[in-house]
Amino acid sequence: MWGGRFTGGIDAQMARFNDSFPFDRRMWAEDIRGSRAWARQLAAVGVISADEADALERGLQAVHAEFAAGTFAPQPGDEDIHTAVERRLGELAGPVAGKLHTGRSRNDQVATDLRLWTIGAIARIDAGLRALQQALLAQAEAAETALMPGYTHLQRAQPVLLAHWLLSHFWPLQRDRERLADAARRTATLPLGAGAIAGTPLHIDRMALATELGMHAVTPNSIDAVSDRDFAIEFLAAAAMIGVHLSRLAEDIVLYSTSEFGFVRLADAYSTGSSLMPQKKNPDSFELLRGKAGRLVGGLMTLLTVLKGLPSAYDKDLQEDKEPLFDAADTLELSLAVAPGAIATATFDRNRMRAALDDAMLATDVADMLVERGMPFREAHRAVGALVRAAEAHGVPLSQVPVAVASAIDARLDDQLAAVFQLERSVAARRVSGATAPEAVQQQLAAARAALALP
Ligand code: ARG
Repeated sequence: MWGGRFTGGIDAQMARFNDSFPFDRRMWAEDIRGSRAWARQLAAVGVISADEADALERGLQAVHAEFAAGTFAPQPGDEDIHTAVERRLGELAGPVAGKLHTGRSRNDQVATDLRLWTIGAIARIDAGLRALQQALLAQAEAAETALMPGYTHLQRAQPVLLAHWLLSHFWPLQRDRERLADAARRTATLPLGAGAIAGTPLHIDRMALATELGMHAVTPNSIDAVSDRDFAIEFLAAAAMIGVHLSRLAEDIVLYSTSEFGFVRLADAYSTGSSLMPQKKNPDSFELLRGKAGRLVGGLMTLLTVLKGLPSAYDKDLQEDKEPLFDAADTLELSLAVAPGAIATATFDRNRMRAALDDAMLATDVADMLVERGMPFREAHRAVGALVRAAEAHGVPLSQVPVAVASAIDARLDDQLAAVFQLERSVAARRVSGATAPEAVQQQLAAARAALALP
């Protein structure tokens, strides 16, 4: 491919080190797609004849068919997917194959291929995220008005609707999808025509080429075009964020599935056993979802580090962009093939959740009652604190402090206090948008359905 100025062959270990074909072969469809569009432009500007363009088109289709059928046979000199396709094209179409690379460089070619591949990966990941959102939404709808303890600092804080907690994991995924859509829009910018660095001397219509490849813009600077891997970083950043979101959802589920909590049971299909302890049923699906965040964050760090301090235009370091990107896409695709089913088949134990709610979680509601009766909140906070201390001193739940003791703390802690100790009342009071009252959660469910364009 580039042997003209060389007399000696490449060292065998150096070839292994240099070759990207083992991992970039998966961009074969994008590479051929870009080449077919390039060949049409070459014909349009008269660099090749219509017959030659047809021969290239037929040859590229034949190479495509071999990859699709899994019969493509790599040869020792196939450095990367670009040289492999061109080598095979030569074997199938003859010397005309040598005209395909006119006015083009692997530098603008590889940037184009990787952008096309990333756009495809984003679409697949988006579909997976949507499926997970749908599973969370269905569970939230099925939860009706069931209550559970809400935790802050992992300490019992206030009662919330189970549906509210489930939806708290829906919205981060919505933001992830927005981030991916935003990244996809910038990724759909065409580098072809940048050549190696200075731009192609051919008078091709870059915008027509972009449109043909499903892109909406062309890169404005040829040096930037072959240097730029922002799109890959943006994808990896979005992927890392998704990894963190899946990990946090997973941690809640793992915790809630312990015997100590007993809030959720996972289906056998998403659990595994222990080889030693017969009684064990482990939440491996969610543990792995939690664990995958490590490599996703790592992939982002890898590429940021490769790019930092890299000189202008193409450097071979950039070949290191692909493996973290592919790995992140594969990791998310597989994670999102599992997560929706694992959520959909989980069963939530409403009784266990209800039993985990205690009176003390309504302490804020007692303070709210005092505020309603004219007491400044800070003072109310102190009074309820004293009430909690009195309950502890008497060894009774907060709702069972004798009225005489309570009203000695503040006269407004009178017989109306008993009415405050109703879990449903506490939840129903929080009805601003985004809060946990059943009517607010109904609105939230409607918003979630609208976000997924569901009826
Ligand atoms: N395999 C290379 C990569 O993945 C393709 C570009 C090679 N360009 C070059 N000038 N050697 O980055």
